[in-house]
Amino acid sequence: GAPVEIDVSRIEPGQLITAEWQGKPIWVLNRTDAQQKELPALDGELVDPKSEVEHQPAYAQNELRSIKPNIFVAIGICTHLGCSPTFRPDVAPADLGPQWKGGFFCPCHGSKFDLAGRVYKGVPAPTNLVVPPYKYLSDAVILVG
Ligand code: FES
Repeated sequence: GAPVEIDVSRIEPGQLITAEWQGKPIWVLNRTDAQQKELPALDGELVDPKSEVEHQPAYAQNELRSIKPNIFVAIGICTHLGCSPTFRPDVAPADLGPQWKGGFFCPCHGSKFDLAGRVYKGVPAPTNLVVPPYKYLSDAVILVG
């Protein structure tokens, strides 16, 4: 499929938008400073905190998993059996456990991912959410694909 341009300049802090590329949902989340700061502290809860196991773009092999620290881009498909996880930025819902700092929850079989799409230990999904290939055409626009 053709690459897709996405304007990331009007996404409010904390807001998620969804685009489409190759028939797949592409999430773009503008993480707040507080959300970014929580991510390294979660490493011990996660299967693959630096995305070393699954092949990912080089810019995704760290805690933030993004080119710019605030703008997170991922394919919105669960790495277990392909359901669509829900965006749960709320910090402490009791049903997601005491370590939950906001992220993505898959309703199909309960997989949990943080705000960098990193999978928590003890859930069915084996790997982190996939970060697609993308680049910045300008400060405002990314090209996915
Ligand atoms: Fe997401 Fe099974 S498809 S947990």
